[in-house]
Amino acid sequence: MERTFLMVKPDGVQRGLIGRIVSRFEDKGFKLVAGKFVQMTDEQAKRHYAEHEGKPFFDELVSFITSGPVFAMVWEGEDVIELARVIMGKTKVKEALPGTIRGDFAAVTPHNLIHGADSPESAARELANFFNEAELVSYSKTIAAWT
Ligand code: PPS
Repeated sequence: MERTFLMVKPDGVQRGLIGRIVSRFEDKGFKLVAGKFVQMTDEQAKRHYAEHEGKPFFDELVSFITSGPVFAMVWEGEDVIELARVIMGKTKVKEALPGTIRGDFAAVTPHNLIHGADSPESAARELANFFNEAELVSYSKTIAAWT
């Protein structure tokens, strides 16, 4: 079963959107296997966004993501990496369609509420920057009412 790394950015935490964001993925049927608040250090943020080092927005990106706690999560499910990004909506807020998290809640591009890994390699690398194996909870949906 595929796993992805997602995090509610400081704007989403401060706007009180964690619950609504988590609901979008639960509603789709994905399984939350880890979640915690993290106040990222500069080093952790630079590791997380290493592929963007040298781009004009890099310093702003690091400064924004370390400006307050993020809510880091690991989600599990079939094709969760790609589908989570569909649920999130486009990075640029103007391009994010209604019905997506960014399309419904975000108004200014750098403040786009949520980050999601974009490939299996990124998911594995990003997950390891936040969680150790013992923090990932494995459970089966055994209660009949669950779908
Ligand atoms: S690129 O160059 O096309 O790969 O960049 P892009 O995918 O558009 O953005 C990569 C991440 O950088 C964030 N971003 C910014 N953050 C803060 N300030 C500015 N100006 C800025 N521009 C882009 C963007 O939201 C992406 O973050 P993640 O967390 O990956 O969604």
